[in-house]
Amino acid sequence: AALLPPPGAPGDPAGQPLPVESRPFASYGSALHVALPQPPRAGQLLTLEVDYEAGEGPGVCWLAPEQTAGKQKPYMYTQGQAVLNRSFFPGFDTPSVKCTYSATVKVPEGFTAVMSATSWEKQKDNTFVFKMSQPIPSYLIALAVGDIVSADVGPRSRVWAEPCLIEAAKKEYDGVIEEFLAVGEKLFGPYVWGRYDILFMPPSFPFGGMENPCLTFATPCLLAGDRSLVDVIIHEISHSWFGNLVTNATWGEFWLNEGFTMYAQRRISTEVYGSAYTCLEAATGRALLRQHMDNTGEDHPLNKLRVVIEPGLWRVNPDDTYNETPYEKGYCFVSYLAHLVGDQSKFDAFLQAYVNRFKFQSITADDTLGFFLEYFPELKEKGVDSIPGFEFDHWLNTPGWPPYLPDLSPGEQLMKPADELAELWAADGLNMEAIEAVDITAWRTYQLVYFLDQVLQKSPLPEGNVERLSKRYPKISKAQNAELRLRWCQIVLKNNLEAEYHKVKDFLHSQGKQKYTLPLYRAMWGGSESARALAMETFSATAPQLHVNVQNYVKKILGLEVAE
Ligand code: BES
Ligand code: ZN
Repeated sequence: AALLPPPGAPGDPAGQPLPVESRPFASYGSALHVALPQPPRAGQLLTLEVDYEAGEGPGVCWLAPEQTAGKQKPYMYTQGQAVLNRSFFPGFDTPSVKCTYSATVKVPEGFTAVMSATSWEKQKDNTFVFKMSQPIPSYLIALAVGDIVSADVGPRSRVWAEPCLIEAAKKEYDGVIEEFLAVGEKLFGPYVWGRYDILFMPPSFPFGGMENPCLTFATPCLLAGDRSLVDVIIHEISHSWFGNLVTNATWGEFWLNEGFTMYAQRRISTEVYGSAYTCLEAATGRALLRQHMDNTGEDHPLNKLRVVIEPGLWRVNPDDTYNETPYEKGYCFVSYLAHLVGDQSKFDAFLQAYVNRFKFQSITADDTLGFFLEYFPELKEKGVDSIPGFEFDHWLNTPGWPPYLPDLSPGEQLMKPADELAELWAADGLNMEAIEAVDITAWRTYQLVYFLDQVLQKSPLPEGNVERLSKRYPKISKAQNAELRLRWCQIVLKNNLEAEYHKVKDFLHSQGKQKYTLPLYRAMWGGSESARALAMETFSATAPQLHVNVQNYVKKILGLEVAE
């Protein structure tokens, strides 16, 4: 490390070397201590140069050609959220600190580098220069290098992907992104990031989407061919205001990012697709929350919005706190705030004022709720923060099912036929006449997803029913859509339908998204002997393709040892 002379000041441009020391911090990283020659004055600007080499940390993923879609060239990408970027570069790896950045990236011939930056330029010698001119938290700095190409899909948007995927990517998103951005701007204020591009990642990317500013990273599973999974893109776009502009100051209040983003996503979706469809999608989200709470028990300490991440060496790794609660319970809390206001346009105006008040800052839930009460003094007067059973404090600090659920009845017209059909399939002695009277050919993907969630909830079904369901609806049991495949595989396992185990295996070989991978391993491990064998066999074949964090979570499920 070296302390550089202030810009324009005399002194050795190489700076003054400083002693550095690595000290224990937590299981997920160590602290770099740099000794300054003298204590800095308050407000003094220092330029510190740190020379380093990134090692084997979980933030930087190096993929062999076989792990890419095209299988021709290697690939590398970084994934910073939550606390992984500390293995990419030394810095203040906390969402409470924001800064701009620039980077110069030299890559081998035939490769392209992209970053979450407001501007970039290719120079000679395969060197790319990036600049992010807005202050962002460290977890949003992201880099990918591979054999990637791009195609325009809107006035400020393009898709990036390996050459073999670019046509599909363009087809899926051509002409649809701009409307989401425009509706977002109408609702929440200016889009400050310049471009909104999407990079389709190799199949092992562990998330559906990651809201890296200017350049969302997305799983190739979204390329369903029918735009049916576009809600993930609307979600990542919504982070442009909630998360990327107004940021949770600590990972213990992750719901400020994700709960507000779920709310914003569904506001945009309601404007674009209407409330029936949006409520249906929200109902599938509620089903995920139900499953999560059933699995962990409602009282689990992670099932509160404010999670305690204790200081000290034995602290919880924030990445291990990832679950449905901040998303769907957070969504319920924001919906509850809207319900207290009682007027959608007033609440929309509040959200816009909230973004404007806290943009480029990192805040706590107390800031959010304090601003809410300040913005609506008549609600503060009424004491809405302390209504018995609905206290803001209760929302934040008590685990369990949300005390308020938004009304999803506008989705009933889409949900009811699916509910009824699931009932029919769960009966002893199938009423085939009634079943055949229902035509699902025109059902949207989320209607099928909702139907399958109901079937899963009622599983195991009476002997033989799932086989018949499988034959009756090849559209479901042979689906290529990842959300349908996940549900179908869950149903196969819950009903121990060994004849279709190969579908579980194929799905897990085809992609590595955490939210698909872990529930399936949990189901296999909690199932029959043969399901357990399938888990072991599949994991030994696919482990090297999985993100190291996902690998470790699977190992924990399977009772295998995890190297710290
Ligand atoms: N920011 C998250 C992904 C994330 C969360 C990465 C925590 C690392 C740690 C992203 O915005 C997200 O929530 N993605 C969801 C999309 C869905 C809710 C529509 C996903 O990946 O499934
Ligand atoms: Zn999100």
